[in-house]
Amino acid sequence: MTVAHAAELLSAARRGLALTGAGVSAESGIPTFRGEGGLWTQYDPVKVASIEYFMADPSAYWKVSKDRGRVALVARPNPGHHALAALEANGHLAAVVTQNTDGLHQESGSRHVIEVHGSSRTVQCLDCGNREPRREVQARLEVEMPPRCKVCGGVFLKPTVVLFGEPLPQAAIQEAFSLAHEADVMLVVGSSLVVYPAAEIPLVALRYGAKMIVVNAEPTPFDELADVVIRGKSGEVLPEIVALTGG
Ligand code: OAD
Repeated sequence: MTVAHAAELLSAARRGLALTGAGVSAESGIPTFRGEGGLWTQYDPVKVASIEYFMADPSAYWKVSKDRGRVALVARPNPGHHALAALEANGHLAAVVTQNTDGLHQESGSRHVIEVHGSSRTVQCLDCGNREPRREVQARLEVEMPPRCKVCGGVFLKPTVVLFGEPLPQAAIQEAFSLAHEADVMLVVGSSLVVYPAAEIPLVALRYGAKMIVVNAEPTPFDELADVVIRGKSGEVLPEIVALTGG
C-alpha cells in the first residue's frame, strides 16, 4: 500500500521536509498554473508574469491578477493544508517549503513555512517602497487600473511575488536548500516540478540520502526517482497519511 508506505517513512522521519506547489491549493479553489484548467493554459506566463511585461504595462498584469486575487482572498485552507500542519505538529515534518504565495499553509497552522516565490498577500510600490495589504489594493482595482500607490501615486505597485526574470528571495532559497541537505524524508505535493530552482530542492534531498514521496494528481518528472508515488488529490491523500501516522 503506497499510503501506508508513505506513512511509515514519515513516522520514522527525524528531519522530514515538504515541498508544495499549486496543486495543494487547488481544492481551496485557486487554479493551478499547469495541468487541467491551469492558468498557463490560458495565458503565456512569460508575457503576463514577467517583470519586463509588468514594467511595460502594469495594467495588463493587474487585469489577469485581479481575478486570481479575488479568488485567493476568499480561499481557505483545505484538508491537505491541515494535514501538513498536523505532520509538522506531530514532529514528522521540520518545515514546509512552498512555491505558493497564497499564505494558506500559515493559515492552516503550519509554523515553519518557507515561501520561495514570495507572498501575494502584500503589494509593494517599486517607486517609494511603501507596502500595503493585497486586500486593500484589490478593492481599488474596481475603480482604478492600474492601481496607484497611495503614498507617491506611482503606477508600479507589484505584489511581493517573484515574477519571471526576478531573483528569488535569497534567504528563503538558502534555507530551503539547507533543509533539503539535512532532510531524511522529502514529501513533494501538488507540484509539476518543472520550475527551477524550486524543483532542485527534492533533487538535493535525494542526493544527500533522503527518501522521497510524491503526491500529485498527474505524473511528474521525478516519479521514477521517488520511493513512493501516490496519484491523487492532496486534500484526500494527505489526511489518510496523517491518520496512519497515528494522528
Ligand atoms: P503547477 O500548476 O505547475 O503544477 C501543479 C500540479 O499539481 C500539477 O502537476 C497538477 O497535476 C497537480 N494537482 C492539481 N490538483 C491537485 C490536487 N488537488 N492534489 C494534488 N495535485 C494536484 O504548479 P507549481 O508546480 O506550483 O511560479 O508551479 C511552479 C511555479 O510555476 C509556480 O510557483 C509559479 C508558476 O509559474 C511563480 O509564480 C514564480
